Amino acid sequence: MKVIITGGAGFIGGNFVNYMLEKYRQYEIICIDALTYAGNLETLEEALADPNFKFFKADISDRSSIYNIFEEEKPDIVVNFAAESHVDRSIEAPELFLKTNLMGTQVLLDVCRKYGIQRYHQVSTDEVYGDLPLDRKDLFFTEDTPIHTSSPYSASKAGADLLVQAYHRTYGLPATISRCSNNYGPYHFPEKLIPLMIVNALHDKPLSVYGKGENVRDWLYVEDHCSAIDLIIHHGRIGEVYNIGGHNERTNLQVVKTILRELNKTEKLITYVTDRAGHDLRYAIDPTKMHDELGWFPKTSFDEGIKKTINWYLENEKWWTNIISGAYKEYYQKMYQNR
Ligand code: NAD
Ligand code: DAU
Repeated sequence: MKVIITGGAGFIGGNFVNYMLEKYRQYEIICIDALTYAGNLETLEEALADPNFKFFKADISDRSSIYNIFEEEKPDIVVNFAAESHVDRSIEAPELFLKTNLMGTQVLLDVCRKYGIQRYHQVSTDEVYGDLPLDRKDLFFTEDTPIHTSSPYSASKAGADLLVQAYHRTYGLPATISRCSNNYGPYHFPEKLIPLMIVNALHDKPLSVYGKGENVRDWLYVEDHCSAIDLIIHHGRIGEVYNIGGHNERTNLQVVKTILRELNKTEKLITYVTDRAGHDLRYAIDPTKMHDELGWFPKTSFDEGIKKTINWYLENEKWWTNIISGAYKEYYQKMYQNR
């Protein structure tokens, strides 16, 4: 079995590459990644030494490069993680989000049609459902919740989901979609809340909380996301959407205070800053379909996962200091200049 994983040099894609290489020793795993600011080959250091792994530096919206790779590799399964993923960046500069998240997905769908695949899987997000009110704890996103986006990021991801569904219905493309809640864990780029707060706390820098810190996110340890996608690509029903989440809702302030407590740092580091424009209030996933159809349950609670994550950042300082200094960008040059 040959599996193409796009965006595999990023946070979740990188964890998924490592997960698949470890679990399926008989599979060939191929990563396509453009190595944007968020892509980091240091995340794939072990994978790059594995004979079952191959890496292509390519942009999913570059049709000819992607067609050439498929012509050469003829994969069985494609899992698309590649995306511009940061909401704040999408508010500053939406265009790239449409190019990568929407047009890039279209290129992948076209190439999958041309070469034929057993499964195309689109890694989507719970943000396509918009948000839930803070005072209605009884409400959750189900797969039937209407699409109702807030940011250019979520609009671009929703557009991609609709395209995937259109390609399934119109052309019979064997596709599935998963919509996951907020992930955290190893290799998370330090622009997102949890890694940024860990790194800032370690440097005794201010921890900038947007608004009052009351917004709620539903946190899932990244390995649990990987195991859910594994089940969907092997056993999920074609044409279906699956919501992934583990009922780990926390306000942003609770998350930040937990990190400070674990690191033995003062809450005086917390600084309240201007709120994010259009800031979604609450995300909360109903994962019943994943439980009932695929027998998936998350293994890691938030209390356990946040400790594991903080320890990972403490033990892997070089990974994130290279990002902060910009040194990680030299890695590709070093690894590939003579290949
Ligand atoms: P990330 O930003 O850490 O990684 C994205 C990866 O995609 C990077 O390696 C980057 O180089 C690559 N990439 C970007 N543009 C590309 C292009 N045009 N061609 C090829 N590669 C490109 O993102 P992440 O947090 O790992 O998210 C991965 C996927 O999961 C995204 O599709 C995101 O929408 C989705 N998702 C993320 C979360 C989360 O909490 N992080 C939750 C649910 C869904
Ligand atoms: O729900 C899934 C989504 O989760 C994914 O689709 C996105 O790719 C991913 O980035 C994430 O989006 P969020 O906007 O929820 O994540 P972020 O880490 O940027 O922010 C989490 C919350 O913390 C959010 O309410 C904004 C707030 N925040 C964020 C940062 C970076 C702060 O208060 N301060 C900060 O400095």
